[in-house]
Parts: sequence; structure tokens; C-alpha cells
Amino acid sequence: MLVKLLRVFAAMTLSGCAALAQADKPPAAVVAGIPVNYDEARVGTYTLPDPLVLADGKPVRDAKTWNEKRRGEIVRLFEENQYGRSPGRPAAMSFDVFDKGTPALDGKAIRRQVTIFFSADKAGPKMDLLVYVPANAAGPVPVLLNIGFSANSSTVDDPGVKAGEVWGRDKKKVPAGQGMNFGRVDVARLLDAGFGFATVYYGDIDPDFLGGVPLGVRALYLKPGQTGPAPDEWGAIAAWAWGLSRAIDYLETDKGVDATRVAIMGVSRLGKTVMWAGAHDPRIALVIASCSGEGGAALSRRNYGETIAHLTEASRFPYQFAGNYAKFANQVDKLPVDAHMLVALIAPRPVLLQTGDKDFWSDPKGEFLAAVAAGPVYRLLGKQGLDTDRMPPAGVPILHTIGYFMHAGGHGTIPSDWDQFLAFMQMHLQGKR
Ligand code: GCU
Repeated sequence: MLVKLLRVFAAMTLSGCAALAQADKPPAAVVAGIPVNYDEARVGTYTLPDPLVLADGKPVRDAKTWNEKRRGEIVRLFEENQYGRSPGRPAAMSFDVFDKGTPALDGKAIRRQVTIFFSADKAGPKMDLLVYVPANAAGPVPVLLNIGFSANSSTVDDPGVKAGEVWGRDKKKVPAGQGMNFGRVDVARLLDAGFGFATVYYGDIDPDFLGGVPLGVRALYLKPGQTGPAPDEWGAIAAWAWGLSRAIDYLETDKGVDATRVAIMGVSRLGKTVMWAGAHDPRIALVIASCSGEGGAALSRRNYGETIAHLTEASRFPYQFAGNYAKFANQVDKLPVDAHMLVALIAPRPVLLQTGDKDFWSDPKGEFLAAVAAGPVYRLLGKQGLDTDRMPPAGVPILHTIGYFMHAGGHGTIPSDWDQFLAFMQMHLQGKR
């Protein structure tokens, strides 16, 4: 066990360690000098902003008004106040498909590997994308696109994958460890169910530490004299989400992939990332967000577990968000959005929120309540919300167009979560009930 744990720790980047360690410890009463509340009686009262009222005060009564007016208003509010504005597709981006279709995984898959160069400068920021499609596919397949804490070569068990590099402790890229299993994905299971699988390493897009801007993609967009993004410009989460959109730019060109049926998934800070990517990029067909918590699918106005104050405290994760987000640390009631509006931006597309009943820090109930409060937008668009305001116990999924599933356990995904992920994807991307 200890050996296994040590290997796992060695495999993880700075951030991954935080994610795992947290699951096994009792919740801390104070984090970064800021008290943490775990008492439902002290959550406080709050009023959520109404997603179905326009900025000018008029109600949103039909899908057209939502799609043409309100949706855009809410996207801009999240850009300005939470994640930061990101640029579009870079004109000089290019794809080098260096593995054009090799039989892999005991003949079950055809593998492709692509380097996505974010600019004309081949020495500049770039991202490796690994793609498998079932070898027996009769046509283009739906794909699960994962964003992970590990290099692609550590995410799957396939010696044919290019050995990746990850950010080491001294903020330099180092070779990814061998034989590590943090965040490892059972690709065969997806292939057997008729899905393709694709994955990227988040650190290829932007590093996950304070002061990382010069080392990631955001550096390409700094104006002369700018040393960091402006307060309404992209934090690292928006950069990682942007990277997912660039992966989809490639998938749209891959003949084995049905790019209208791409699901995305990520855990923890990468759960926040897939929520924002799904909200922002309507090409994404389905979102699976695992334990996204504060700054993701958990309501910020609930004072339970992590808060905006904890997230944006100078020594923690302010770099993951727009600079403006920190302004709401001590006045969350002034934030013009909340997590239910993030869920609502994904409508009418399916979104599954997976949590854990012992993941107190991430506030599983706050995610449930966000899903409930996004329901009116789904219903306006003719889809099914959660259709209950009673939170299900651990182990009991609700899989409608909005899905909610809380496993018994802590932070992250556990193998049995995959039963729900697959059922949700089969239901929505393959029309299976
Ligand atoms: C920290 C952070 C969370 C985040 C998590 C992770 O615990 O406070 O907001 O989700 O790291 O990404 O593992």
C-alpha cells in the first residue's frame, strides 16, 4: 500500500498531490488562515441571481430570448468576474499528426497522436493529443475527451504512446514517470461500448502554479508591457478550457470521430475546467464534471467547505481565475453569477455532476442545489432538469439531461463512478435507455 501510495505521489504534479491528500484527512477547520464552515446550520441565507431575467429586468420566457440574449449576457458575466476572457482559435495554429493510425490496445483500437502547435513558433506552447477509436467502428464514433493531471503516456496503459513531460516541483518540465496510475483510464471499457477516447495533459496548456504565466499559452497573448493578464482576462482554468476547445478543433478534422458527439471530463480543478469549457464552447456535446466544487458547480453563496476567499487567497489558487474574482471573497452576494448559472449555460446539453459524500471541502450539497436551480433553464429549452429538490443519498444516481451522482467516499473519481459515466454517455450520445 505504502509503496503504491509513494508511486502515486511521485507521479503527480504539485496540484495532483493536493487533490489526493485532501481525501484522506479530516476536514481542516482553518485553511490559509480562513475558517471553514462544515455546519449546515451556519451556511447562511442567500438569494440566487435569476438566470431567467435579462440585465434590463425583463423576464426570459422563450428559448429564442435565452439563446439570443440571456445566454450571452451570462457568459460575459462569468468571463468578467470569474474565469476571465479568452481569445478565439489562433490563426497560426497547426496540427502535426505524428501517429497516423496504429493498431493498439490488443487490436481493440486505432491510435492517433497529434501535436497541436498553438502558434507558428514550433518552439512555443504546444499540446499533445492522444486519440483512440474502436478498431471495429463502422463509422465516426462519439468520443470522451479527458483533461488530466498526468501526461498522456501515464493516463493510459499503452507503451506506444509518446513519453510525455510534466511540470516538476522546481517548475521545470521533467519526464513523466513510468508505471504510475493516478487518473489512469480504462480505455478498453469505453471502446467496448463503442466510444472513442482522447486525452490531453493540462500542463501542456498552462502550468498549475503561481507565476506560471510566462511558461504557458497565456504568455502568447500578453500585449507589450503586460506582465500578466488584466483582471478580466483568462486565468489558468480558462486557459485549460481553451485547450479543450483546441483539441476539438483537431477532432473536427479526424474522420474517425463524430465531432458533434464529444463529451468532456475532468476531476477537481479540472472539473471546474470542463464546466467552464462546456459553458463556453457549444460544440461540446456533454460534460462530466467530477468534484468540481467551489469555483465549479457548487454554489458560492453557500458558506460551506471551500469559499471564494479560500480559492483566491494569495498563497493558493488566485492564478486559476480572473483577477476580478478575488473581489467577491468577502462579498459573495455581489457576485452577479453563481454556479447554477454555469450549469444552465450548458443547457440544453447533458451535464453530469459527480461528487462524494465525504468530500466536504467541495460541498456536494452545493452542487446538488446548483443543479436544482438550473432546472428552469433546461425546462425552458424542453429538457429535463433533476426534477426533484430532494438530494439523493450516496450511490443513487439521477440521470436526466442534468445528472447528479454522489459516490460513498471522498474527493475524485472511483472505479464505480464509471458505471454512471458510461450509462449517461450511452443514454445521451448513443440514444440508449
Ligand atoms: C484544492 C482546491 C480545490 C480543487 C482541488 C483540486 O483542494 O481547494 O478547489 O478542486 O484542490 O483540484 O484537487
